[in-house]
Amino acid sequence: MTTANKVHAQWSSRMGFVLAATGSAVGLGNIWKFPYMVGDSGGAAFVLIYLACIFLIGLPILVGEWLLGRRGQKNPIHTMQQLAADNHRSRVWVLVGLGGVLAAFLILSFYSVIGGWSLAYIKDAVTGNFSGQDGDGIGAIFGGLLASPGLLIFWHSLFMLITIGIVARGVTGGLEAAARTLMPALGVLLVLLVIYGMTTGGFMDALAFMFKPDWSQLNGGIVLAALGHAFFTLSLGMGIMMAYGSYLGEDVSLLQSARTVVIMDTVIALAAGLAIFPIVFANGLDLGQGPGLIFVTLPVAFGNITAGWLVGVAFFVLLTFAAIASAISLLEPVVEFVEERTPLSRMGATLVSGVAAWALGILALLSFNVLSDFTLLGLGIFDLLDTLTSKFLLPLTGLGVILFVAWCLDKEQVRQELGLDIYDFSLWNLIARYIAPIGVLVVFFANL
Ligand code: PFF
Ligand code: NA
Repeated sequence: MTTANKVHAQWSSRMGFVLAATGSAVGLGNIWKFPYMVGDSGGAAFVLIYLACIFLIGLPILVGEWLLGRRGQKNPIHTMQQLAADNHRSRVWVLVGLGGVLAAFLILSFYSVIGGWSLAYIKDAVTGNFSGQDGDGIGAIFGGLLASPGLLIFWHSLFMLITIGIVARGVTGGLEAAARTLMPALGVLLVLLVIYGMTTGGFMDALAFMFKPDWSQLNGGIVLAALGHAFFTLSLGMGIMMAYGSYLGEDVSLLQSARTVVIMDTVIALAAGLAIFPIVFANGLDLGQGPGLIFVTLPVAFGNITAGWLVGVAFFVLLTFAAIASAISLLEPVVEFVEERTPLSRMGATLVSGVAAWALGILALLSFNVLSDFTLLGLGIFDLLDTLTSKFLLPLTGLGVILFVAWCLDKEQVRQELGLDIYDFSLWNLIARYIAPIGVLVVFFANL
């Protein structure tokens, strides 16, 4: 089922719902972005702050988005409109929905660029380019990709084309079925790579780097990055989870479902880190090299284990699949928005939205080569899109969601909807009314 279905049907099962939400959540954010952010921000202190953000802020907001969606039974903008009216609140709450659509559009543009890297690496793995390479060799392969606008554009276009094709044809249902097998397969492969990490001699260093905090490394910028990534990785603040909630039956437990999704997302991110950092330490690679990190580390493993090329192909196929599932969930709300406000058909709306995001993505990828000197507010285009969404839009729309749920809805109704007794509900209230919003506000304004 997709958010585009006109008849407002429901998920066939709790399992289907959790799978769809996990399909959106688990993606490049876990395997590509989380590890390089850990590397950039000095390790364990970031990881621990990130985990706190996930459980104290991300989880309640996830529940909040589902709850609003289930109440409103509409797309995010209309849901916010209607719930604001029902509860005699101002129309500014609609901005939460609008900000979400804008964020989804901006994220899709650069997400597709990285999806393209993953596609390019399928080709490299198939042709055996990684075999026998050390860190330097792999670094050269990645450097060659980044330096070539033509190649980057080709792979980015292919990724976006696949995403557009799936959304335009409305066949996202088939993807959920695929997710059922492919997601666990990705998990198994990651476990294998963690085991490989144990054989490299870098595993202990990696463990210490990821879990033994050096608090002196911490600063406000790192905390904001961790908070922003908590939103990004759980697909929060974009109305996507709200849309999923609108198809949700009354009998599904929001808290239990949220726990499942959050735990799966977190485990995959941590496993990715445990697969990557041993290779970094064992090969003396650069921890803080940013977005290229997984692309210069994991292939070292693929190039040096038996049948590694095959493992490499499988890995990048699964990564691409996870990325496509997330990209679809990013394109969907934008398409709906365009479809509603223009005379365009679904096909037309998908093309217009997809092509616009594709064009912006080209600017983003050029910031890795020909436009590398071009900066706005001190950031290249790729970094600017990333910063604008993860550090500004998502925290603000997420804050809107949790404030609305905690302060604007009838408390007793919310308590029943969450199925909590009085005691557990007071804990929920403490977190949803104070801890989560104050956390976001403090982190956010401390950085302005
Ligand atoms: N959560 C996805 C990831 O971690 O890769 C990325 C993403 C998907 C972000 C959908 C936002 C979104 F709405
Ligand atoms: Na994620």
